[in-house]
Amino acid sequence: MFEHLRLAEPLRDSTGDHTVTLRLIAASDERRWAAVRLANAQWLTPWEATSPVPAPTVSFRSYTREIRRLHRDGDALPLVIEYDGEFVGQVSVSGVQRGSLLTAAAGYWIAQDVAGRGITPLAVAMACDHCWFTWGLHRIEINIRPENAASLRVVQKLGFRDEGLRRAYMHIAGQWADHRTFALTAPEVPGGLVRRLRERAL
Ligand SMILES: CC(C)(COP(=O)(O)OP(=O)(O)OC[C@H]1O[C@@H](n2cnc3c(N)ncnc32)[C@H](O)[C@@H]1OP(=O)(O)O)[C@@H](O)C(=O)NCCC(=O)NCCS
Repeated sequence: MFEHLRLAEPLRDSTGDHTVTLRLIAASDERRWAAVRLANAQWLTPWEATSPVPAPTVSFRSYTREIRRLHRDGDALPLVIEYDGEFVGQVSVSGVQRGSLLTAAAGYWIAQDVAGRGITPLAVAMACDHCWFTWGLHRIEINIRPENAASLRVVQKLGFRDEGLRRAYMHIAGQWADHRTFALTAPEVPGGLVRRLRERAL
């Protein structure tokens, strides 16, 4: 499914005019991915999903092979965020449920040195529009720990609805953590989320 997916949008931020690009993650991203993750370990660890049971370590190559297979089957959208062509983070859509739900969950992270420039809201908007208008999904949800003020700002800027608190919903940084669920359905954003984000410009 769309092996050569590439979505690009202009972004004007406090440092000038830039381009945000989304593309599928690939095995060749390993070196840059590892370097960015290492440099941002303290920034990311408090918000990282962890396994509640012992889980085998998976190589990056195996991970990308499996996640790209899920993408081909229409079960995941594992995207890299590039800022002016440089790998700076990820937006991942997973847990796709079809049948009478047509729903999925989105997660994201970005390198600390480019945080605060509006890159993630735009990247999430681009991924949602792709899921709704190209994949035909109906609903996208985003689950956020109540303490994660920066991530709460992302869904606020995008106008996601707050669907309430899920107690001990996900295993994060070694323990079960409460999450607030935010969601949007395609009919709520007929012109797309990128357009709405640009119009709202919060
Ligand atoms: C959450 C996250 C993805 C937001 O990405 P982003 O591209 O910086 O998003 P924005 O530019 O819209 O900034 C969102 C908010 O982050 C805060 N912020 C801005 N710069 C920041 C910085 N350098 N450090 C910390 N927080 C910052 C601000 O409150 C900002 O809101 P504002 O625009 O109203 O000032 C990013 O902070 C991140 O990767 N955090 C660690 C991983 C994480 O929490 N992932 C999400 C799990 S649900």
